[in-house]
Amino acid sequence: MVLFKKSAALQKWLGKQRKKGKIIGFVPTMGALHDGHLSLIEASKKHNSITVSSIFVNPTQFNDPADFEKYPITLEKDIQLLEQADCDVLFLPSVSEIYPEWATANEQYDLGYLETILEGKYRPGHFQGVCKVVKRLLEKVQPGNLYLGQKDYQQCMVITKLTELMGWKNTMKVNICPTLREPDGLAMSSRNMRLDKEEREKAPAIYRALTYIKSNLQKGDLQPVKVKALQMLVDQGFKPDYIEIADAATLQLSNEWDGRQKLVTVAAAFLNEVRLIDNLLLND
Ligand code: PAF
Repeated sequence: MVLFKKSAALQKWLGKQRKKGKIIGFVPTMGALHDGHLSLIEASKKHNSITVSSIFVNPTQFNDPADFEKYPITLEKDIQLLEQADCDVLFLPSVSEIYPEWATANEQYDLGYLETILEGKYRPGHFQGVCKVVKRLLEKVQPGNLYLGQKDYQQCMVITKLTELMGWKNTMKVNICPTLREPDGLAMSSRNMRLDKEEREKAPAIYRALTYIKSNLQKGDLQPVKVKALQMLVDQGFKPDYIEIADAATLQLSNEWDGRQKLVTVAAAFLNEVRLIDNLLLND
């Protein structure tokens, strides 16, 4: 695996590969890698001649400074895992490499409705920060294929929208890969590393609540099933931000179901200090 810390060197190397007709697959990460990330590398390896991954804990997407401070960093292990997964390139930039214009950067992305609901509502500024970093990474890597995990459902929609806003829709395909789960259902996430033993035992309740919604979905009023699922989380000691049902394509929140609309259920909840998110497609 080739490691680049500087954008100029990365771009020069990738430029040469592109001239040779190589197709580039890209897996952006914030490190603390787990099997979910590795499944994205595997998907990219299957369909591209070169797989690039990046590790950058992006300060502009943390609306809560304490969350940024405590974000797990396991760089040595991450590099080992990427080597084992046969990743071709790792981009490991510094903050000044990504944000040389830090003080003057005040770009805004028009994310519309997506920024007013769910993660957008509970983490103000988060998606603007995601767009800032992903735009910069995509400009440098210029992949033909981008790989994202479905666990961050709304983020997948935001980044897809970003590629449209930037006019990259026809040159860059956004590939959304299934969420990987632990045997007890807990969605794999870097934040799981912050759970203590007791919290880790409680954490799968979020998956059980979503599964409850999936198994009990009925035409008509969706309120009762949402209320029961919320209670399941509260009973396990979670402090939920939300557990919602929404249109799978637009994320418009739904209170009624006609029996046909494609839906997704999404949840975000704190277990003490750790905020977990998850989602399930309801009728895929
Ligand atoms: O999902 C993540 O790990 C991050 O939000 C991303 C896409 C790498 C941008 O920092």
